Amino acid sequence: MEKLIQRVRGMNDILPEEEAAWSFLESNAINLFSAYGYKRIQIPVLERTELFRRSIGEVTDIVEKEMYTFEDLNGDSVTLRPEATAGVVRAGLSNGLFHNQQQKLWCSGPMFRHERPQKGRYRQFHQLNVEAVGYSGPSLDAELIVMAARLWNCLGLKSPTLEINSIGTPSARANYRKALVEYFRARQDQLDHDSQRRLERNPIRILDSKNPSMQVLLGEAPLLTDYLDAESCTHFEEVKSLLSGVGVDFTENPRLVRGLDYYNRTVFEWVSDQLGAQSAVCSGGRYDGLISHLGGKDTPAVGWALGVERVVELLRVEGSDVPRRSPDAYLAIIGDIGRTQSFVLGESLRDSVPGLYLLVDAIGGTLKSQLRRADRSGAKLALILGNDEQKGDHISVKPLRDDRPQLVLTLDELIKHLRNGVD
Ligand code: HAM
Repeated sequence: MEKLIQRVRGMNDILPEEEAAWSFLESNAINLFSAYGYKRIQIPVLERTELFRRSIGEVTDIVEKEMYTFEDLNGDSVTLRPEATAGVVRAGLSNGLFHNQQQKLWCSGPMFRHERPQKGRYRQFHQLNVEAVGYSGPSLDAELIVMAARLWNCLGLKSPTLEINSIGTPSARANYRKALVEYFRARQDQLDHDSQRRLERNPIRILDSKNPSMQVLLGEAPLLTDYLDAESCTHFEEVKSLLSGVGVDFTENPRLVRGLDYYNRTVFEWVSDQLGAQSAVCSGGRYDGLISHLGGKDTPAVGWALGVERVVELLRVEGSDVPRRSPDAYLAIIGDIGRTQSFVLGESLRDSVPGLYLLVDAIGGTLKSQLRRADRSGAKLALILGNDEQKGDHISVKPLRDDRPQLVLTLDELIKHLRNGVD
C-alpha cells in the first residue's frame, strides 16, 4: 500500500461535522455586516511581500518570523497573507475605492502565519474581517465594537469581554517609547530573553509579555496613557462614552498594544476565559496612517478581525444552540423496478416544494436497510415508493421522529404535506 500523505503541520481539515457551527457564525456575521452597511470585497491570498513589510511593520513577530514568503517563478518575492487589512487597503487604493468617499468593507478567508501551533493557534486559520475607511470620528470605533457585541449576542455567546486602550499618535508613542527604554534599561537584568531582544527594536511589545516572572516589572512600567496627546484622549473618552451609552461593558487595559504596527488611537480585543492561552477572539483598532503609508491620501480607518476557529471553539465549549438542519425526508424504494420512478419523483418533489431537503436513496437493498439509513440521516420522514404505491400512484409516508401513524398519500397530497412541514 502507498504511504498516506500527511497534512502540513498547523493546517487543519475542517470536516463536515463542523459545518453547522461555521455556517451559523458566518451567516450571522454576514447578516450583521450587511445590516451595518458593509459590502463584501474579495482579495488575493498571495500578495507582494513588500505590502506586509510596509504595513504590519519590519520589527513585528509576523514579519520577522511568521510569514510564508517565497519567490514565485518570475523571481518576485510573494507572501501568503498573514492578515487581511493590508490587502484590503492595497485593493482599495489599486481600484480607487477611497477616492473622496467612505467605504465599509468586509472579507473572509484563510490567513497564514508560521507560529508554533497549539490549541487555538494554527498556521492556516480563518478570519472574518471588517474595515471602515474614511471615517475619523469615534462613533465608527464604537459602532464596530458594538457590532461584535451584537454578534456574540446572536450566537448566544456569553464569555467574550472587551478590553480597550488608546495608543495615541505616532509621536506620543515615540515619547513613550523613550521613557520605556529608559525604564527597562535600568532594569535590564530582570528582562527575559525575548524582552532583551525587543528592548532595542520594539520595546513597547515587551508589555505584551505573558512571562509570570516579569509581571511585577511590567506592572510598574510607565503607562502609555500618561503620554497620550490631548486629541487622542478626547477621542478615547468619546469612544468609551458611546459604548457605555449602549450598555457595552469594557475594561481599560493600558498594556494592550497589539502586535501590528499600523494602529493608532483606539485598539481593542474581545477575549474569552474559556479558551485557554489563545484567548483573543476578535481584535482590531484604528489605523489612520496606513493608507497614506501605502501611497494613498491621508485617510482615517478602523476595523477588526475575528478568528473563526476560536469563535467556533467557543460555540462548542459554551454549548451554544447551533442550528443543525436535518433532511425533511428520505425517499426509499422497494425493489429495483422503482429506481427510475423514485429518481423522477425526487426531482418533481424538489420542483414543487421550494427549500425541500430531500435525500433519495441511491444504494438500494432491503427496505429495512434503507429505513436504517433514513434514520441515521436524521430525516423527519421516510417516503416509501413500493410496488403497491407505484401501481396506485400512492406514496407511504412514515414519520421517523415521533409515533404519528404512517400515511398513504397521492402525489398532490404528499406535496401539500411536505410544503406544510417545510414552511
Ligand atoms: P490579529 O489580532 O493579528 O489582528 O488577528 C485577529 C484575530 O485572528 C485574533 O483575535 C484571533 O482571534 C485570530 N488569530 C490570529 N492569529 C491566529 C492563529 N495563528 N490561529 C488562529 N487564530 C488566530 C489582525 O489580523 C488585524 N488585521 C485585525 C484588524 C482588522 N485590525 C484592523 N482591521
